[in-house]
Amino acid sequence: MERSSFSRVGIILATAGSAVGLGNVWRFPFMAGQNGGAAFIFLYFGCILLLGIPGMISEFVIGRHGQSNAFRAYDTIAPHRHWRFVGYLGILTSTIILGFYAVVAGWCLQYLYASLRGELSGDVGYVQQYFQEFSSDPIKPCLWAIAFIGMTHVVIVKGVKGGIERASKILMPLLLVLLVVIVVASCLLPGAMEGVRFLLLPDFSKVSANVLLEALGQAFFSLSLGTACLCTYASYYSKETDLVAAAGQIALLDTVIAILAGLMIFPAAFSVGVEPDSGPSLIFITLPNVFQQAFAGLPAVGYIISVMFYALLVFAALTSTISMHEIGTAFFHEEMHLPRKKAAWVLTTVCSVLAIGCSLSIGAVDGLRIMGHTLLDFCDFLTAQLMLPAGAFLTSILLGWFAARQTLRNEFTNNGTLHEKLFPIWLCCVRYVVPICILLIFLHQFGVI
Ligand code: TRP
Repeated sequence: MERSSFSRVGIILATAGSAVGLGNVWRFPFMAGQNGGAAFIFLYFGCILLLGIPGMISEFVIGRHGQSNAFRAYDTIAPHRHWRFVGYLGILTSTIILGFYAVVAGWCLQYLYASLRGELSGDVGYVQQYFQEFSSDPIKPCLWAIAFIGMTHVVIVKGVKGGIERASKILMPLLLVLLVVIVVASCLLPGAMEGVRFLLLPDFSKVSANVLLEALGQAFFSLSLGTACLCTYASYYSKETDLVAAAGQIALLDTVIAILAGLMIFPAAFSVGVEPDSGPSLIFITLPNVFQQAFAGLPAVGYIISVMFYALLVFAALTSTISMHEIGTAFFHEEMHLPRKKAAWVLTTVCSVLAIGCSLSIGAVDGLRIMGHTLLDFCDFLTAQLMLPAGAFLTSILLGWFAARQTLRNEFTNNGTLHEKLFPIWLCCVRYVVPICILLIFLHQFGVI
């Protein structure tokens, strides 16, 4: 990242832009749907509060202290160069995420295009079949995914991120408003209350270690935690930025958007008879029904809302993919001494290849499965449930046990001017709570305890 391309306020918006994306609108509802609804959401809140917010603050502390790209930032705060390895893990993770994320973002592009052309109208069966046919096409979704990575590439290379941040000042609130409108519309559908109940009344008999790991992975994925992505952004924060408040506000915004997305999807899904555990296709087979049925009396309104919604979703996804692309591009540029353009091309190429693989694995090519999962599902599992928690675990160990206490205190409290009382609590989370919880969840998942 050219160190001048962000304004000081823009950078907090950029961090929020990285956090808010398909993780909230696409991944959260389908994860909640597969894991029993309310019980999952309850665990998710716990993960955000106990592990997510302290983890965000940790990355902010490292980034602002380092004032440089993530690898050097880890070097600066760590006693030993070995800790760079956490930075490398972060690049690898964010590159894999970008690979499959672009496929889903590509689906959003297709839905934007299709809704503009009015192609998404028909009954529930038609909508499901539309998604099935489109997503298993060997060519179209690949092209959309590459187009999406191309858009990200252009933003990264042209250095127009500042403009994107300014635009998000308007577009992010707009997304929020639109979500609220769609939530209301969705909740007014016949039989919708069943979906609200699913989201709000927990059934803890569904909770297993696996659900816990999924909630943990979802929390980290949604907050962009565990890949040094937040650390990169925090390197642009000013000395006056209140890191604790920033983490709290971004986590709150991110959670509110996820819950709204849930309230948008489940009432409609129950109303039209889409299974809540449909997996990655959930929002794509539910939303077109909402736009049609909820606005049946006012088709023009339904049309405008659907087009706006998909456009805003594409924008939200773009502010997230920029953050993933940036980590790798900065690495190849600043550490491998490639010109920035070439560095961006390396990343774009690798991600495009991965995206094609993920896209084909959905239906066009049968063999692209790993351990019974499609490549897309496998990459999602590998990153969200293993690599992100591992990255956050190592970062916690580094800060809690190896970094200089005074440095942490200075960054956390802005040299003793803020949140003095919270520092010991955070430190306790970073030293004990975060690593122990992640370790326990891992051990339980893999049957050791
Ligand atoms: N948080 C983003 C979302 O919810 C996805 C994302 C962007 C991300 N950057 C990341 C996830 C870095 C993990 C790591 O859509």
